[in-house]
Formats: sequence, C-alpha cells, structure tokens
Amino acid sequence: MQTFLTGKFQDESRQGEVYLSEIGLSPISFKKFFIESYGCQMNFSDSEIVASILQGEGYSATKDLDEADLVLLNTCSIREKAEQTVRKRLTEFRKVKLHRPGMVIGLLGCMAERLKSKLLEEEQLVDLVIGPDAYRTLPQLIKEAGIGQKGINVLLSREETYADIAPVRLNSNGITAFVSIMRGCNNMCAFCVVPFTRGRERSRDADSIINECRDLFNTGYREVTLLGQNVDSYYWNDGQSGTSVTFADLLDRVGAISPLLRVRFSTSHPKDITDDVLRIMASRENICKYIHLPVQSGSNRILQLMNRTYTREWYLSKVDRIREFMPDCGISSDIIAGFCSESDADHSDTLDVMQKSRYDFSYMFMYSERPGTLAAKRFKDDVTSDVKKDRLEEIVALQNKLSLESNKRDLGKTFTVLIEGDSKRSERHWMGRNSQNKVIVFLKQNDGLQKGSYTRVIVTDCTQGTLLGEQSN
Ligand code: 5AD
Ligand code: SF4
Repeated sequence: MQTFLTGKFQDESRQGEVYLSEIGLSPISFKKFFIESYGCQMNFSDSEIVASILQGEGYSATKDLDEADLVLLNTCSIREKAEQTVRKRLTEFRKVKLHRPGMVIGLLGCMAERLKSKLLEEEQLVDLVIGPDAYRTLPQLIKEAGIGQKGINVLLSREETYADIAPVRLNSNGITAFVSIMRGCNNMCAFCVVPFTRGRERSRDADSIINECRDLFNTGYREVTLLGQNVDSYYWNDGQSGTSVTFADLLDRVGAISPLLRVRFSTSHPKDITDDVLRIMASRENICKYIHLPVQSGSNRILQLMNRTYTREWYLSKVDRIREFMPDCGISSDIIAGFCSESDADHSDTLDVMQKSRYDFSYMFMYSERPGTLAAKRFKDDVTSDVKKDRLEEIVALQNKLSLESNKRDLGKTFTVLIEGDSKRSERHWMGRNSQNKVIVFLKQNDGLQKGSYTRVIVTDCTQGTLLGEQSN
C-alpha cells in the first residue's frame, strides 16, 4: 500500500500530504521531520517522545535536513555556550528556509522555556516555541504554523510525565536505551536554570516504567538507563491500590525483569541517595555498579552558597558508604570551576575532594551565570574568565590523572562486558562497557558474538579514556 500511495498521490501543492478520500481511505501524511538535540540525556529522551507524537500524526523522521518539512531543535540552557551553539544553528536553518519557505522551524526544550517568545517575535528565528511540558500540543501548533500563525506553548505542568507515550528510539544502537522516570527538579541549586526550565519535580507511574523496560528487553535491548534530574527522590503512589514505590523499589523491580537486562540510572544527588538504593544495587548483579554523584565543589563555603545542602564531609562519607556496599563501584562527578566568590583555597578544596573520591570520570565546567537563577539574583559573577579557565584546566588535568590511575587499577582484571557495537576505530574490534561504565575495546573472534551479547574480557592495556582487552574464554 505504501508504494501505491507514494507514486500516485504525492503532490507538491499539498506538501506531501495525500488526501485519500477519493479512494475511500483516511488521509495519510508523508511529511518528514528532522530533530536535533542538545544538552542532557533527558533532552535526548524527550526528543524520542516528540518523535512518537509526530509519528502518530503521520510524520516520519529524516536525518537529511534538505528533505525535512519540519525542523526541530531540542535545546539546552544550562550554560551560555549551549545557547550560543543553538542560536548559530538556528541562523543556518533560517538560511535554508529562505529557499524553502514552507519549512517550519520549531524550538523545543529548555531554551524555549527560558526565552519564551523572544526568538519568535524579536528575532524571527523560529516559527514554533514549545516548552518541555507542552509536547502534546505540537501537532496543533504545527498546523497553526502551516497557515502562517506563530505557535507558542511554554506552560509548565505539575503532572505531565508522558507516561503513556511509547518513545520512538532515535539514533539507537538497539542495545542501550534511556527511560525517563521523572521530570523537573525541586532542588534549587543556586547556579542551575533547570527548576525554571523544567518545572516542579514529578514522578512517572511505576507500572508504565516497568512496562517500557520490559518491552525494550523483549525487542532485544540489553541495557536501560533510568533518567531523572534527581532519581533518588523518585516516589510513586498508586492512588488506587495505595502502594508506594521509592527509587530503591523501582530499581529492584526493573532489575527483576531479566538478569540479562542491565540497569543504570542518572543523576543522583548526594543528599538523597539512600542505603536502600545501595543495598539493592549490591544485591543484583545486573544493576550496574556505577553512580554519577555530582559534587559541584569541594568547599563547604561554596557548597552552601550553591545551596547544595551537604558539606564536603557528608559527601565524602557518601562516597565511603558506596564503596562499603560495593568496593568495585565506579563513581563520576560534575564539577564547576569559578562559582561566585570562589577563592584559591576553595578551589584547592575541590581538588582535594576529587583526590579523596578517586573519580573514574568527571564532567567539568566553568561557571556560567544564568539569568533568573538564585546565584544571578544573589551573587556577583566575580571570578574572572582567566581564573575560571586556569582552575578548570587544573581540574581537568587532575581528573585525567585520576582516570588513568583508575584504568591502571583494572589491568589484569576480568569483566563482563555488554557489546554495544564495532569499535569506532576499527571494525575488527568490538566496543562494549563493563558494569562500571568503562568502555572496553577488544579484538573480535569468529565465535558468533554480536551486538547485545555478553562476554568476559580481561584488561591487558589502557589509555586514560579506554580499557583495552582480550576475550577470556
Ligand atoms: N554553569 C556551569 N555549569 C553548570 N551546571 C549546571 N548549571 C551550571 C552553570 N550555570 C553543571 C552542573 C550540573 C551539570 C549538568 O551542569 O555541574 O551538574
Ligand atoms: Fe540542559 Fe538542564 Fe535542560 Fe538538560 S535539563 S537540557 S542540562 S538545561
């Protein structure tokens, strides 16, 4: 039926939309959308929800900008640089649109929420603006944009979790997938724009999460990462049965789907991660031994200004606790250099916490003031960019050293590795990860292993970023 429709009815004046009433069928659209995502995993996961909503409207995804009727940018506001990148991209899209006036350009995500109508009205860069809680209204807004109206919906919701929408997996390797378990954030870290762009925290129906994970497993996926801004405060209460589900309960239930389904999660807040979570992690082999536990700063004074609600001592005791439960657990962090009023002594405290935590990996940033945040309102962004840069360089150099040391500690160890695909550098090698989230590359053998298989690999060599190994069977 597809072939018949494509050949016979596609008609430029209808921009790919085919009206089949002539032959007694309902309308089918051949429109194509192109979506580009920036920022955190949550944003990439949201793009898969958007894709699902659009597919329900007859759209199909394309990776080719030139054949897209609808171009969407799912954006991030976390640092100024992220917004600049998107603005640049939008001007490129705008140029394409000059030759293809029918094309609709939409801004989604955190920048849409933060800037609201600014890019729509003042700068005329986009036709649609849709915030993270308003994706269900996308089809309606697209229709309006199609008849020349500029569409905007940036309403935040206290309930929306898109629980009933089955994401369409974009750019998927077919083995690992992200599953959103909650939205928004109530933490109010002073530097962070997220509570303003993504609204209040709300958890998704536990059964819908379990079902999504089970479906993924049944279609061949072997790893799910449960996503939330602050997963440890996940809490679902089923009004009907009265049962409540904590994050530890949820982990246990997802872990029980199959021993062959790996479970990861991100992100944890040091103030909220509980012994119950650590106990469940330790008790189930398939719950990966890896925790992303952002410290942000190692100085008590700065942590207080950041409103992180823990001290360095509390943080380090959490790291110890994790290693008590799981001596082999990988730990990574987020670190900000040059927050308001940060002194050399504060910076040294950060380096010290990094040493003591022995991070396997970190995401490291220069502080970037975001309009509307608590820090922007209360404090001066008074560390010069040169100092921020120098401190960031020191932090990166230390992390590189810690990562290499961590990888060297793995030499001679054997890990269970989930194969994710060919190594980027060579098709003769597999690339996979161990439970601790480290990438391992090893030579393929003619033994029938494929993407999604588990195998044992002994580590024979390493770089700062990768373990190199050999299958040990
Ligand atoms: N400037 C720099 N880094 C930031 N982050 C969040 N807000 C800012 C900001 N204004 C970092 C934090 C957070 C990560 C996702 O991004 O480290 O954990
Ligand atoms: Fe960026 Fe934060 Fe929004 Fe994610 S939630 S897209 S990191 S601003």
